[in-house]
Amino acid sequence: MSGGQAVALGIALVTALLSAGVFTLAWRQDKVSAVVGKMDPDANRAAVRHPQLTPMTAERATAEAPEAAVEEPAPAAAKPVIIELTQAEYGETRRQFLNRATGASFGAFLAFLGITGLAFLWPRLSGGFGSKIDAGDIDEIKQAIFQPDGTIEPFYVAAAKTYVMPFAESEAVGTDFEGLDVFAAGLTGLFQKCVHLGCRVPWCSSSQGFECPCHGSKYNAHGEYEAGPAPRNLDRFALEVVDGRLLINTGQIRDTPRAKVKTVQYPQGVNCV
Ligand code: FES
Repeated sequence: MSGGQAVALGIALVTALLSAGVFTLAWRQDKVSAVVGKMDPDANRAAVRHPQLTPMTAERATAEAPEAAVEEPAPAAAKPVIIELTQAEYGETRRQFLNRATGASFGAFLAFLGITGLAFLWPRLSGGFGSKIDAGDIDEIKQAIFQPDGTIEPFYVAAAKTYVMPFAESEAVGTDFEGLDVFAAGLTGLFQKCVHLGCRVPWCSSSQGFECPCHGSKYNAHGEYEAGPAPRNLDRFALEVVDGRLLINTGQIRDTPRAKVKTVQYPQGVNCV
């Protein structure tokens, strides 16, 4: 299941919960109304239209015409059935309704939070960004990187947001990269995000470096800081090789300070920015 599907499922569940809550509240409210009572509208109408049928009026009629009253007793008027609520009882039912509505809303809110949290974490569970990503066969990656004219082109792994670049661990001796788990089979994986304000940093083939179009930060082919407002080198991920394939662990990011000693020449041609 993708993250989008999980979100859609979450919205559907929350909607179902809300609907069930509203239905339950409405049903309970009907029940309360039935218990506390309502006026019988037909009986009330009869009482208004034929006041002579009320008990008081019938007595008066008997006094005025006793014979007629004896021969034709007035039919008993249908009395409206009313159960009166005290102010306290009325306040109680309204308070109950508000309490249940608040409880249902809070429950739905918690369910929504839980489901959206699950959707947020889903990529980590299913192998997306944030987990280990298979970049491909090592030999094929290197073949794509090294160009016939002696230049290099990054091997871009979109799922990992990573540029795979050549960088041997032996070249990093004495630098801040030494001892880090960011090397594998002579390669390193650079996070595409500029460490200044987060723009994606494109590769510049002519200068053989990464040059940020947003504010002009520049990094060499090993992702070492060269110029601009960036506070450090490009970040990179932990790497490992399994069965001849490069795995990029995008859940393990490594940052290093601006390189004092550069391990590769830059620029090697015209800058792009
Ligand atoms: S975001 Fe790259 S230089 Fe500012």
